[in-house]
Amino acid sequence: MNQETKTKGEIMLEKAEKIGSFWAFKEEPLSKDKQLLLFDNVQFIYELALAQLELKALGVEFEVTNGLREFRLLKDPEDVETLKRKLAYFKLIKGEYTDYFYIVRKNRTRSVNQYLTHWIYPYKGKFHPQMIRALLNIIGLNRGDTVLDPFIGSGTTAVEAQLLGINCVGIDISPLCVLQSKVKTESIEVLPEILEWKDEILSKVGVNLFNLDDKALDKVIDTIPNEKVRNFYLMAKLVAVSDNARRKKDFTKAFRKNLDLMIASVKDYIDIVEELNLKLGKVNIKVGDSRNLSLDDNSIDGIVTSPPYSIALDYVSNDAHALKTLGYDLKELREEFIGVRGKGQRRIDLYNEDMKRSLEEMYRVLKPGKYAVIVIGNATYQGKEIKTVEFIIDYAERIGFKLVKNIDKIIFGLYNVMQKENILIFRKEV
Ligand SMILES: C[S@@+](CC[C@H](N)C(=O)[O-])C[C@H]1O[C@@H](n2cnc3c(N)ncnc32)[C@H](O)[C@@H]1O
Repeated sequence: MNQETKTKGEIMLEKAEKIGSFWAFKEEPLSKDKQLLLFDNVQFIYELALAQLELKALGVEFEVTNGLREFRLLKDPEDVETLKRKLAYFKLIKGEYTDYFYIVRKNRTRSVNQYLTHWIYPYKGKFHPQMIRALLNIIGLNRGDTVLDPFIGSGTTAVEAQLLGINCVGIDISPLCVLQSKVKTESIEVLPEILEWKDEILSKVGVNLFNLDDKALDKVIDTIPNEKVRNFYLMAKLVAVSDNARRKKDFTKAFRKNLDLMIASVKDYIDIVEELNLKLGKVNIKVGDSRNLSLDDNSIDGIVTSPPYSIALDYVSNDAHALKTLGYDLKELREEFIGVRGKGQRRIDLYNEDMKRSLEEMYRVLKPGKYAVIVIGNATYQGKEIKTVEFIIDYAERIGFKLVKNIDKIIFGLYNVMQKENILIFRKEV
């Protein structure tokens, strides 16, 4: 294979082999005694807990041996094909690779979890996609079911649901998030048209070296009739705007490089659908307010989401450059965002009120007996810890949800800074 046609995943695997080490997705000799093998990148206790929960949810009888990392089948599973198709934390079952093993290798980045189109746009606070795949399994969703994420953010739930054949309704107040999520899931439908526009688009980038704001690129993007193709190029522009603003990269170079990578990732997505014969879920992403969902009562089969963590991250300031480029008035947008309005105690009160309304809406649209997963952490504001997790559990239980699992998600980041979040699984009681 020629070096250019390889994905970063393949290149990294080769490099790792050369230095006698292995990369996260090492190939294994395929033997039937490899009954159930975890991915090498699984390292945290919460991941091992989720790995066990997903096996249980999929009806697998197993035992965990040898210091938690080794799993053994106690009984031959009836439907190995379905397990191969769905599993998130295991790379091998009954001597065969899972679909996910092939999916994660379609990766154009250096980060193990930014495969396929996940990487497009550097959004802060993305979910870990492997965790979402597992959670979709844990709450028992199947092909044709519908999952809702009322805070869709960068679209992680949408991509993972789509890959599993689960339909997804994704809602976010931020037009930038809606754009990202759409591009990540819809561009695969229009790749030939994206390619047709490429030369014309490139001819308009960097024409005027002294004026990066020149509007030639915008003008040509505006003339693209197909919305999905237009969104793709708008996103390519925003990724370059972000590279230029945050990393001081040259806009034209960044645009060209990212555009090629974006096209390659969309192609990877199309290839993996074909290689694994995936039946994709339908995705419906729109701008909306989690406090007032335009969805029918009892219409959703599951919810997987992470709301803003109290006032932990100011999503409006964080994406200010991109939102401004899209032509939005930041002051107006701010009024509708949860967790960024008001100051001091008022800010916390407003957040709590907004979250109460969002929880009531989640409860209303979910079918009875079905599950809502909420990933959330406490935040520190003005030197004080805000107990968002307790607040959410309390209110959710008050309106008729039952907390069935509360998993501590503790991870150590850069400089050993501890990040603690909770994965809360609620059931809407019948
Ligand atoms: C923690 S992030 C979600 C991240 C997401 N799980 C991901 O993987 O990228 C929270 C999201 O809530 C959105 N948000 C804030 N207020 C909202 C509202 N009133 N309705 C819907 N979404 C809102 C923000 O724009 C932000 O994208």
